[in-house]
Amino acid sequence: MATNGSRPDSQLIALRDPRSPAAEAYRTLRTNIQFSSLDKPIQTLLATSTAPDEGKSTTLANLAVTMAQAEQRVILVDCDLRRPSLHGLFGVSNEQGLTSVILEQDERSLPLQEVGVPGLSLLASGPLPPRPADLLGSRRMEALIARLRGEADVVLFDTPPVIAVTDAAVLATRMDGVLLVLQAGKTRRDRAREARRLLEKVKANIIGVVLNNAKLEAGYGYYQ
Ligand SMILES: Nc1ncnc2c1ncn2[C@@H]1O[C@H](COP(=O)(O)OP(=O)(O)OP(=O)(O)O)[C@@H](O)[C@H]1O
Ligand SMILES: [Mg+2]
Repeated sequence: MATNGSRPDSQLIALRDPRSPAAEAYRTLRTNIQFSSLDKPIQTLLATSTAPDEGKSTTLANLAVTMAQAEQRVILVDCDLRRPSLHGLFGVSNEQGLTSVILEQDERSLPLQEVGVPGLSLLASGPLPPRPADLLGSRRMEALIARLRGEADVVLFDTPPVIAVTDAAVLATRMDGVLLVLQAGKTRRDRAREARRLLEKVKANIIGVVLNNAKLEAGYGYYQ
């Protein structure tokens, strides 16, 4: 568990304490992403990991806040249709979201939610479907990604671990870039290699690895 309280935004250090070293680390990540592809800016970016609880959602949510703080229009999309958590992080509901748009073929406005950060909106998971990978690989999903591209400068997608299920790999093929979140002292080297192999197999553009120290330094210099 996080050691930093139980407020809905307690994991959002970029919001809670923008002057902390951790918030600074997220700004460095933002800059590195910008520089990773100068000719073709990364507009769609997915985060995944090797195993559960490595800090994907926390990292992506803080990155989203940090990008919005730099006056980019950011949409955060919860594509973890197995253990969605972004709505909880921001203290909003996931009754409406990604799956409602896809299943209802909703042509009306997207159920984007304001989360108290100017420039940032959240498309929560919506009700959980029986076969997430099919939904994420569907034509409708492709159309939704195109639509989201039209509504923001950057669209960030949260997913389940890439080794356990195919969801992240399915979606990775449609992204400009992929971030692999590993946890120092916990992620096994062979698993990191396996995650990379699975992503390379689908020709994903892995633009970087984020080393999350959550469990290693919990209690003092966490969120690195
Ligand atoms: N840098 C960090 N410092 C301290 N705690 C962290 C950090 N990153 C994540 N955590 C904590 O670790 C737990 C898992 O984080 P998170 O939900 O972001 O991981 P995840 O990889 O998205 O998990 P899941 O596989 O369930 O989607 C949470 O309780 C979160 O508060
Ligand atoms: Mg998560």
